[in-house]
Amino acid sequence: MNRKLIAGNWKMNGLRADLSIIREVAAGASPSLQAPELLLCVPATLLGEAVQAATGAALKIGGQTCQAADKGAFTGDISAPMLAEIGAHYVIIGHSERRTGHGETDEMVAAQARAAVNAALTAIICVGETLEQRASARTLEVIEGQLAGSLQGLKSPASFVIAYEPLWAIGTGKVATPAQIGEVHAFIRAFLVDRFGPPGRGVRILYGGSLNPANAPEILPIQDVDGGLIGGASLKAGDFLAIYATASALTV
Ligand code: 13P
Repeated sequence: MNRKLIAGNWKMNGLRADLSIIREVAAGASPSLQAPELLLCVPATLLGEAVQAATGAALKIGGQTCQAADKGAFTGDISAPMLAEIGAHYVIIGHSERRTGHGETDEMVAAQARAAVNAALTAIICVGETLEQRASARTLEVIEGQLAGSLQGLKSPASFVIAYEPLWAIGTGKVATPAQIGEVHAFIRAFLVDRFGPPGRGVRILYGGSLNPANAPEILPIQDVDGGLIGGASLKAGDFLAIYATASALTV
């Protein structure tokens, strides 16, 4: 069984006043290596203070995107070495909000993931289908295409995590059914084993989309669900820690 990863994605939320949430989450993180890994991906403006707030605790901090280039004329962008230098351990790559809102293609996602890995960050690569694609029975085809494109050039399966986030489940309160999640996660696992051999079994596959304390007990035990990528519920320390507690109970 892979060590579970409970990851929060704050998206464009969080001011200094919210650092207290990070301190509360840090205080609730278990130092045991058997416990799930705990991660908060915060806005770039909060990274430095978030890293400080998590210092000494079993809480890691991550970014939400990065440039494929290490430096240069990319106004407003942030590079993987910048994230690494400030103390981030992870970075979310190819979230659907960036694929749709910023036109990020699979090729761009792959280049960003390679940059992240080169900077010794773990890339959390997101895939997921739209409601229309699911309705037309193209979910697995879409996921396969995104995986094939987004993993180009990644050689070490230890350097990345996959997050399956059906677009219709993000921020909507609609959760994929256990059968839907199980089917896609098994498909992703088979893809990874086909691509990387047995080490593909060690790649963690997270589910994301309206995950909360109430549905976590149903979702986290599903085969090949190695944790969660949590948006809204990661903004409340109590809710986020409740999901972590559910994952912890599965580990022991
Ligand atoms: P919600 O948990 O708010 O649905 O967001 C999921 C997500 O997009 C995490 O990356």
